Amino acid sequence: MLKKRLITILSCCLTGIYAIGQIPGGHVNIIPEPVTVIRGEGYFKLPVSISIEAPALPALQPVIQFLKQRLSVPTGYNVTIAVQSANAHIRLILDKKADPVIGSEGYRLAVTPGMITIRANEPAGLFYGIQTLLQLLPNEIESEIAIGTGKWELPCVDITDYPRFGWRGLMFDVSRHFFTKKEVMDFIDQMARYKFNLFHWSLTNDEGWRIEIKTLPNLTKKGAWRTDKTGYFGTFSTPLPDEPLNYGGFYTQDDIKEVIQYAKDHFVNILPEVDVPGHSLAAIVSYPELSCTPGAEKYRVRSGEKIMEWHGDGRFTALVDNSLCPANEKVYAFLDKVFTEVAALFPFDYIHVGGDECAKNFWEKSDAIKSLMKKEGLKTMHEVQGYFEKRVGKIIASKGKKLIGWDEILEGGLAENAAVMSWRGEKGGIEAAKLKHDVVMSPSTYAYLDYMQGDVIIEPRVYSTLRLNKAYQFDPVPPGVDAKYIKGGQANIWTEQIPNTRHLQYMTWPRAFAIAECVWSPKEKKNWDSFVRKVEQQFKRYDIREIKYALSMYDPIFTAKTNNGQLLVELATETTGLDIYYSFDNSFPDRFYPKYTKAVTPPKDAVMLKVITYKGNQPVGRMIAMPLEEMNKRAGIKK
Ligand code: ACM
Repeated sequence: MLKKRLITILSCCLTGIYAIGQIPGGHVNIIPEPVTVIRGEGYFKLPVSISIEAPALPALQPVIQFLKQRLSVPTGYNVTIAVQSANAHIRLILDKKADPVIGSEGYRLAVTPGMITIRANEPAGLFYGIQTLLQLLPNEIESEIAIGTGKWELPCVDITDYPRFGWRGLMFDVSRHFFTKKEVMDFIDQMARYKFNLFHWSLTNDEGWRIEIKTLPNLTKKGAWRTDKTGYFGTFSTPLPDEPLNYGGFYTQDDIKEVIQYAKDHFVNILPEVDVPGHSLAAIVSYPELSCTPGAEKYRVRSGEKIMEWHGDGRFTALVDNSLCPANEKVYAFLDKVFTEVAALFPFDYIHVGGDECAKNFWEKSDAIKSLMKKEGLKTMHEVQGYFEKRVGKIIASKGKKLIGWDEILEGGLAENAAVMSWRGEKGGIEAAKLKHDVVMSPSTYAYLDYMQGDVIIEPRVYSTLRLNKAYQFDPVPPGVDAKYIKGGQANIWTEQIPNTRHLQYMTWPRAFAIAECVWSPKEKKNWDSFVRKVEQQFKRYDIREIKYALSMYDPIFTAKTNNGQLLVELATETTGLDIYYSFDNSFPDRFYPKYTKAVTPPKDAVMLKVITYKGNQPVGRMIAMPLEEMNKRAGIKK
């Protein structure tokens, strides 16, 4: 019944609407923005019987099936595929003499009124050409149910496109919260549509070990399970000894093989991360002898209670010893086993070994560490970590893989050939590039999608904010860096505050659209206003597919100031063309309320500022209730 109603609604939407996705004479809306788009005259109309000509290459079969499904399901049209067809409507061509302009991932897409042609040097290019083709079709092409005949048209275009960077990643943490294999695959499917090609799978942390290691069964028997808690992660009560270990999960090696194959079919490489020596509580709970600290056998996998003290200046101390012991040979034997199995499973060249936020305060107390320092001539705790990283580097190399780690691995001296993932801003990446090491940029300043997208008064609380507009300013090559060392960029999604897949979607989109454009499109092609227009187009597609996204880009930015000791509230928007309406009388503002034009001083006894944003006569933002007590606090006014 619900499906039938949806069909009716969608059919109504389609009737009489001209290629909804791409308005005639209007913009061509593609994320990420292609290198060149030349708009031609007219449209290609999908015929009711669509013939596709495509090479019979095995690597292409999932791509062709994907195209067939995407075209046939919403239209109900018949789609046939042939290696040769004299009257094909869509031709996928692998160029025998390689086209030097587009490289291994680029494509050329030509749409004329009679034919669609996608040419590429490699299957990946055809896959990306198909993604662009689908974005050119009306939004309803996203429907997973048949909505029948309509104006299934796309504009005539000539597109040449190829990526700015070879490493276009999204990192997804499945330790802090566990996500099923199906949820991981859905995430990969979604990222590939925007031409991301690297899935960084963060598989271990203090809150759970998620990958089966056959020679170390405790890692998933013990290390994958914790006590379920709800609230603000990081502030939970410490589980009592008798509380059940009722939250968790892991992927078997067969699960992982399936995900790898799925990713391969979507032209996505998987970078596995095993985070050591810090963030290793789940491993220590599984094998307490890996710790330098007596009594580690009493530890539990972290449920979200406080285990670190942050001193506010970047320094921190651990309250439980969540670091592996670099002075213990058993640790290296353990890591050899782990990386033997990880290397055998994952075909990607690199293994990520973490290295971030490793607390040293328990090491400082350890006699074993003191004798290691003496024996190896290590002067500081950073050098102790450096010693550890170099040994890990040798293990990784012995498995035929390359090591990448968070920028902390610079602190004790980089292992030979180690690549650096810069997350504490860009400085680690800049330093590593100067040392002639490869770098992937994922600075928290632009690319941390776990941060809030708007004001804490309306967003689920996280310790920092990254608005869409700021994410869009990400440039993986900071000034003064030799670009040849920058492999690319990625955004990171830590999941302490992301308890489920719907919220994962909310946190990822639209900011991952911004990151996609920053890592694929030529820098000079980026344009914030047209990006926002394209995001709005994608929102309509997401509505059809019922994928969640954040509307935070419409929410006002509140700035609290003082004027002669009085509160002054400034409101701004990150997207242009919006009007903000407000009230101080507790009622819900709409566009018949005062429109914000300049900073306002609240009436003397007012307690609440309510705001809403409009585009013309349509409300687009969320109704936000901002207590004036909060504004006073932010302005430093004591009442
Ligand atoms: C990190 O965000 N700790 C890499």
